[in-house]
Amino acid sequence: MLGKLIRKKPVSSAVSLSDQITDMKSRQIPAHVAIIMDGNGRWAKRRNLPRIAGHHEGMKTVRKITRISNDLGVKVLTLYAFSTENWKRPKIEIDFLMKLPGEFLSTYLPELIEQNVKVEMIGNFDVLPEHTKSAIHKAMKETANNDGMTLNFAMNYGSRLELVEAVKEIAQLAQEGVLSVENIDETVINSHLMTAHLPEPDLLIRTSGEVRLSNFMLWQLAYTEFSFTDVLWPDFDEQCMLNAMKEFQSRSRRFGSVEGENNA
Ligand code: IPE
Ligand code: IPE
Ligand code: MG
Repeated sequence: MLGKLIRKKPVSSAVSLSDQITDMKSRQIPAHVAIIMDGNGRWAKRRNLPRIAGHHEGMKTVRKITRISNDLGVKVLTLYAFSTENWKRPKIEIDFLMKLPGEFLSTYLPELIEQNVKVEMIGNFDVLPEHTKSAIHKAMKETANNDGMTLNFAMNYGSRLELVEAVKEIAQLAQEGVLSVENIDETVINSHLMTAHLPEPDLLIRTSGEVRLSNFMLWQLAYTEFSFTDVLWPDFDEQCMLNAMKEFQSRSRRFGSVEGENNA
């Protein structure tokens, strides 16, 4: 009886990624997407693998998400790869994480060049191991003239450290009489951050179900749209990225005003 009353909905055929991308491009694409790539360790643990296996798998996600972000027309993709607090981890894990940029770039640099991607980095570069620095340097040098998407790795990055450094620089200028205290404003502070040359993130994504910033871009995220997902970083695929973009496009950004600037 009941069966007769319940009409089955027609099964909608899955829309291809490229059709979704085309559709999405008719609306506003966030210029700067920042991602806190989290959950590599748990991904590995669930498979009885060492944590570093999760980091290795996460590298493949970096490749996928870089490609689709570029296809979507994102201008800057910032990936939080290592925080100033991550030095608290076991040495074996830190050593592996410091080798990852070299491994990633030696495998994928040719395709980043082919995609016209420009590699950049924010964070405290000086204290990184030589091999990590030279891999990043090489990639930055070889992609310096590319004018497509910027792939910005936050490596040994911490927002509080960044703000402390900015305050020191500004105080120094004030002390030298180059800058008067009355002239210190948001633009001055911005110009002393590691992100001075970048637009503020429009969209922040954090994977793995954690709902916190973990010392990431505390100043820059003041008006950013947040998207949190339970998906672990190694499982975060193109469709997950498109879902976060859809979420962004459905939001109304008001920046404190009453008029909604709908992204649609
Ligand atoms: C994110 O994955 C990668 C880094 C922080 C370098 P985690 O290593 O934090 O993974 P979980 O959070 O332990 O699962
Ligand atoms: C944040 O993840 C740092 C990176 C993704 C690089 P964590 O896993 O280190 O953050 P907490 O410790 O859970 O806050
Ligand atoms: Mg984590």
